[in-house]
Amino acid sequence: MGGTKLVKDCGWFVTGTDTGVGKTYVTALLLAALRQTGADAVPMKPVQTGCARRNGGLVAPDLETALAAAGLKPAPREKRWMCPARFRTPCSPHLAAAREGGRIRVRDLVAAYRHLAARHASVVVEGAGGVMVPLNTHETMLDLMRALRLPVILVARAGLGTINHTLLSLAALRAAEIPLAGVVLNTTQRGESASLVTSNRATIERLGKVKVLAVLPWRAAPDVASMQKDALFTRMAENFRHAEKSGRSRAVRSRRRDAAFQDCRAWNKHRAPQTPAECSCRR
Ligand SMILES: Nc1ncnc2c1ncn2[C@@H]1O[C@H](COP(=O)(O)OP(=O)(O)O)[C@@H](O)[C@H]1O
Ligand SMILES: [Mg+2]
Repeated sequence: MGGTKLVKDCGWFVTGTDTGVGKTYVTALLLAALRQTGADAVPMKPVQTGCARRNGGLVAPDLETALAAAGLKPAPREKRWMCPARFRTPCSPHLAAAREGGRIRVRDLVAAYRHLAARHASVVVEGAGGVMVPLNTHETMLDLMRALRLPVILVARAGLGTINHTLLSLAALRAAEIPLAGVVLNTTQRGESASLVTSNRATIERLGKVKVLAVLPWRAAPDVASMQKDALFTRMAENFRHAEKSGRSRAVRSRRRDAAFQDCRAWNKHRAPQTPAECSCRR
């Protein structure tokens, strides 16, 4: 699988307001949409807890779902890059690693991502849990997003309680200057009130100053194959394409700003800015 095309820093990071909000579902849909257009897109699940043991190895369920949606069967080495940190304990990554005597470091996850990005046009990365989930004693998912600089899709529940979680997650992403592509609202509960969902969408767009890229309905069988038959899938793919353009240019600007900040710190040793926002360099 895959070619030797060398397209750097291309893809998406799918995060969520929580675990169980539909990140894997959205990752699989996005991947299927990209591959339908002929794009060489592959999934990555940097950290997976709750893995099953099979044939002496650990199987990462989210990665398997995404691979099935994309119709991919990667070679073992590539599959390791797609999910470099696997743990059996179903809990937060930092705790699972500590309990199993492992270690998660953002730099190792970025190294695995780079192998994939060097070989494929697009990497769709699914985070674990939400934005502030700890990876070790001092790094969180946010640090990984900051290091990868991919446009971020925030998946949130469509119904009750979503406004607070979504706005808080957006605030954390913005404070870290992470390029945002948009929000996907996913109906994970059967019988959610349609008027509540419509109102939530409008409120999140207004207060969060963000585009809601898609509102996904509740489905008895939420799989990619049945979703692909739906007109919503085509609309969603179209929205993703628009978001990709603006998200990509935001990601490039954000990378430039970071480089200027690092230069500024190196030159102004005595009055060095502490954050990119304090940096007075031209952006
Ligand atoms: N639109 C939907 N309708 C019905 N069930 C859904 C929907 N989206 C997700 N689910 C189900 O909710 C559960 C959590 O979804 P998942 O994508 O695994 O979330 P996450 O990756 O954020 O933990 C899964 O069992 C999934 O099948
Ligand atoms: Mg998942």
